Amino acid sequence: MSDLLIHSMAEFGDLILGLLDLAGARTVVEIGAEYGGMTEPLAEFCARHQGNLIAIDPSPAPEFVAWAAGQPHVRHIAHPSLEVIATLTNIDAWLIDGDHNYYTVFHELAAADTLARRDGLPLLALLHDVGWPCARRDMYYAPDRIPPAFLQPCRHDAGVTLGDAGYRVDRGFRGAGHFAWALQAGGPRNGVLTAIEDFCREAEHGGRKLLYAHVPAVFGLGVLFDASAPWAEALAEAVLPWHDNPLLAKLENSRLRNYLTVLDWQDGFLQRPE
Ligand SMILES: C[S@@+](CC[C@H](N)C(=O)[O-])C[C@H]1O[C@@H](n2cnc3c(N)ncnc32)[C@H](O)[C@@H]1O
Repeated sequence: MSDLLIHSMAEFGDLILGLLDLAGARTVVEIGAEYGGMTEPLAEFCARHQGNLIAIDPSPAPEFVAWAAGQPHVRHIAHPSLEVIATLTNIDAWLIDGDHNYYTVFHELAAADTLARRDGLPLLALLHDVGWPCARRDMYYAPDRIPPAFLQPCRHDAGVTLGDAGYRVDRGFRGAGHFAWALQAGGPRNGVLTAIEDFCREAEHGGRKLLYAHVPAVFGLGVLFDASAPWAEALAEAVLPWHDNPLLAKLENSRLRNYLTVLDWQDGFLQRPE
């Protein structure tokens, strides 16, 4: 992804670490490390709180693998999240930023919640890419890992643009071979935010009360937690000013429009202004 476009969870670093602090988190899981942009501040946080960080990513950047190997408080698990979550214990908080599609995120939340209830801990999940373009549209790093019943029709050369629920070939925001987009946005079982909503609905049918805050910046950060957690009130107070903040949403929309215009210049669909 271009350096022009900030995209790491690290952009929310102060907010995320502040929330982890309020929740008294010590053992933290990060799903999706990539270059380790968020892993480094998380590792430092865990070390300071006598905790541990488990980073799950089947194919992060080689420099991340080398860095993680030298960190006493970091354990890197090089497998897809859904293959390994059930092997973990006593997790205080989850950062979910791996494969941004309905199947993966819904089942990551369900597996994390199963662990939380088994271990008698409240659920705290911080999820990235809850805004455009993944909110209502699946993206797949590895379409072959998604069961056919959940896999939306997708293409690696598809690009997406704001205000268009379809796709364009080789135009718009796209994965340069790294990931595929679902060809259509919207509808059931499509997108990260849809997965969160369905997970919350099912949990509430089971008698749970979960709280969700939505920070509409840098592709969107979701904060999902048990309303009955001892720290729930403090966390809710801390995220409230960020939740659905209209100024942030406007800035994000403007940022995305500008970036899509730059892509069109780069791709030769628009003349650069003199
Ligand atoms: C958007 S990047 C993560 C960025 C990072 N969290 C940050 O904030 O800088 C997504 C990462 O998720 C990893 N990934 C893809 N599918 C995954 C899965 N099923 N489980 C865990 N990680 C996955 C990819 O290899 C990639 O490195």
